[in-house]
Amino acid sequence: MKKILGLVLAVIMMAACFAGCGSKNDDGGSAAGDGNSAEKEKLVMATNAEFPPYEYHEGGEVVGIDAEVAALIADELGMELEIVDVDFDTIVPGVSSGRYDIGMAGMTVTEERLESVNFTTSYATGIQSIIVTEDSPITSVDDLFGDGNYTIGVQTSTTGDIYSTEDIEDAGLGTVNRYNKGADAVQALLAGRIDCVIIDNEPAKAFVEANEGLKILDTEYAVEDYAICYAKDNEELGAKVNEALEKLIADGKVQEVIDKYINAD
Ligand code: ARG
Repeated sequence: MKKILGLVLAVIMMAACFAGCGSKNDDGGSAAGDGNSAEKEKLVMATNAEFPPYEYHEGGEVVGIDAEVAALIADELGMELEIVDVDFDTIVPGVSSGRYDIGMAGMTVTEERLESVNFTTSYATGIQSIIVTEDSPITSVDDLFGDGNYTIGVQTSTTGDIYSTEDIEDAGLGTVNRYNKGADAVQALLAGRIDCVIIDNEPAKAFVEANEGLKILDTEYAVEDYAICYAKDNEELGAKVNEALEKLIADGKVQEVIDKYINAD
């Protein structure tokens, strides 16, 4: 019995060491093959890669505007970028608890999020848009506040969710259906299960392009600022990231990345 207890203790201690070594990122027990990046400190970015052109999957990788701007920031800071793809609603809690260094996900600066995290300078603008089927009776944002009692699809915990829940569902004017991914809301719209999708304009364009029979209404629900979030108690890293971002904005590098993914026509 004593032996077994000793063995269990040894295993626990080993596990603790591995966990400790890993989080300190001192390369002590980590796998070989890091090459010359082994010395670099990691910058762990949480995103939700269901949001083209800001972040999406391509060839097993997370690509898009945020991935590229974050890589430029990491370069400026001499850090190694690691992108983790998680559910959108876990990004802010994960950043505020220190699990991730930064959150970058076409994320809108909101009063509510500012209560748990800080944001950098804004690097892009987003517009909440409305996607409908081509034959939809919904023709403007005002129709959602009428007596149509429409069902609105959104990605969980996004501003589209927050606004339509407050303005429409809580006011008894309609129903909000929440999906894990914007693309799932779009599929529900195509299947006739919901009447419209409220989502940011650029992913809206990407989803409408990828599917037949949909259109974006020429009406804006809300205009918002995208920024990078970081933990309130990590002002040191936040200031560094913000400084690098501001430099990249001033040098036109951020615009270059945006132009690469978003054509102005
Ligand atoms: N801009 C919206 C928000 O901040 C939606 C962002 C969704 N981003 C994503 N990567 N899925 O709530």
